[in-house]
Amino acid sequence: MPKVTIDGHSIEVPEGTTILQAARMIGGNIVPPVMCYYSTLKTSGGYCRTCIVKVSKGSDKDPRPIPKPVASCRTAVMDGMEVQNITSPELLKARAGVVEFLLINHPLDCPICDQAGECYLQDLSYEHGLAKTRFEFQRRTFTKIDIGDKIKLHMTRCILCYRCVKVADQLTPQRVHGVLFRGGVSEISTYIQKAVDNDFSGNMIDVCPVGALTDRTFRFKSRVWNVNPVDAHRDCSKCKGKVALWLKGEEVYRVTGRRDAYDEVIDWICNECRFDKKKTSDWVIEGPSNISRHSVISQNHYTLKEPRHKPLLNAVKVVPDQNLINEKK
Ligand code: SF4
Ligand code: FES
Repeated sequence: MPKVTIDGHSIEVPEGTTILQAARMIGGNIVPPVMCYYSTLKTSGGYCRTCIVKVSKGSDKDPRPIPKPVASCRTAVMDGMEVQNITSPELLKARAGVVEFLLINHPLDCPICDQAGECYLQDLSYEHGLAKTRFEFQRRTFTKIDIGDKIKLHMTRCILCYRCVKVADQLTPQRVHGVLFRGGVSEISTYIQKAVDNDFSGNMIDVCPVGALTDRTFRFKSRVWNVNPVDAHRDCSKCKGKVALWLKGEEVYRVTGRRDAYDEVIDWICNECRFDKKKTSDWVIEGPSNISRHSVISQNHYTLKEPRHKPLLNAVKVVPDQNLINEKK
């Protein structure tokens, strides 16, 4: 099994593991942030460059460094590879540059955006962004579009991560949605206002890392930090029926999929569960959801129950890095 060292932490991983997956196995703050990769969506990743890392040693066989940052979600580890993420100031500077690019067309309308509080780009720009934009040109703007009766597309906020396209491709039987054009004029389209009304289309809302795709049944009803998530389930013939209900008192404000430590949906849910079951009597409530995300949602009486970067595969043997041990001695 190839051994890789990331920011001084070593691990042996199965052949074909990417640097990002290896970092997630180690856990902690060395895990690179992602905007387009989604472990359960095939061929996701490789679009946003948020997850870049510095490969300071290619492998034991060929120790030359890779001369420029690589996307960790698309680069497989090699035996003896050494990678730097948070220990490389120049890499962090490069990532700040990526964030600046992601923000050139993105409006800073967080105070009125429904995604505020659970927006990856908001978190990313707090951690890596500049206080001011250097972009002097006019930003792209689009009018909002209704994609069917339940989803609103606000293309102005889209960062073209392709996650929703992968959902459309892989979860729904008929694809009516994709990216049109290339480069600075690319846009998400549904040929176009054609409704995305198949049973699993609502999952696009959950995977969208920004406020570009929002739930029309929840828009402007409440800030996310004013509703409380609880895990609930029901017998459903289309999906597993395992969801998070977002409650204010007894009222169900929205229904979403449950999320793991990396904020990825654990089980996709169908549109019936998401949009049509909005009474607590439709559900068996299990208890408060674990919020593993570093977010305002975890404030107040919801405590951070699991660290965000909890090691995922405890079974994987973590090999202590001998150089670090020697340094400490
Ligand atoms: S609409 Fe959202 S999920 Fe789709 S490409 Fe844009 S940012 Fe990504
Ligand atoms: S998360 Fe790796 S390129 Fe987007």
